[in-house]
Amino acid sequence: MSDPAAALTREVRDRVAAAPDPRLREILDAAVRHLHGFAAEVGLTPDEWLAGIRFLTAVGHRCDAQRQEFILLSDTLGLSSLVETVAHPSGAATEATVLGPFYVPDAPWRAAGDSIAVADPGGQPVLVRGRVRGPAGAGLPDAVLDVWQCASNGLYDVQDPAQPRGNMRGRFRADGTGGYAFRTSRPVCYPIPDDGPVGELLRAGGRHPWRAAHIHVIVSAAGHQPVTTHLFDAEGSYLDSDAVFGVRPSLVKEFLPQPDGSTLVEHDFVLRAA
Ligand code: BEZ
Ligand code: FE
Repeated sequence: MSDPAAALTREVRDRVAAAPDPRLREILDAAVRHLHGFAAEVGLTPDEWLAGIRFLTAVGHRCDAQRQEFILLSDTLGLSSLVETVAHPSGAATEATVLGPFYVPDAPWRAAGDSIAVADPGGQPVLVRGRVRGPAGAGLPDAVLDVWQCASNGLYDVQDPAQPRGNMRGRFRADGTGGYAFRTSRPVCYPIPDDGPVGELLRAGGRHPWRAAHIHVIVSAAGHQPVTTHLFDAEGSYLDSDAVFGVRPSLVKEFLPQPDGSTLVEHDFVLRAA
């Protein structure tokens, strides 16, 4: 017996097979197969289809120069994290995780050992230090660490008019042996922006918007692949329910109390050869 739904899927797949670019052809074919498969599997009704269209339209309306609700949707569905995982298979190198929307290029250069917490009165001081290494373990001279984090009130400088621009951000150059050090505040958990359609979807799905406490770092060095990653606080909450599925066990670090009341994190970053 003929199956009209399967016949329609076949017809659309045959149509997109005309794309001259082989990679586009592969992507379109898989997109049609999975999209049709999804609608057929759940028996998507016309009303549900329309609700989906309205939802995606609302997501688009929340996108501008300051806010990218589509990336937030991708993040909360685990797609951004999946793309990072597929692009950077785990191995000896430092695992990659999501970039997030709060990265700002051209952070201020700071001297080794300086603090990115220019204005964070509530912050608990933390020293982060270690070495940037290549695949064979050798230190990578002059590696660059681009670091950013929210302040202790849970807000990034770009979300908080009370913070000076560049607060909780900095670029650090490693020394001749790949050694690096910077100071910051102990990271806190914070909710991702949930006042838009993605927040509605989280609530409808019985989910919270919280991210596990983390420090963002992009590590780069000449002749090596840069890595966009985080350091998570092992004592923080939400490690097993991070709203954007960013946690990797290899990135969860102990924050070690020091006799002077400060806190130390020691971590080596390992880059792949370019
Ligand atoms: C962040 O860690 O900055 C972030 C990542 C994904 C979505 C929202 C925020
Ligand atoms: Fe963050």
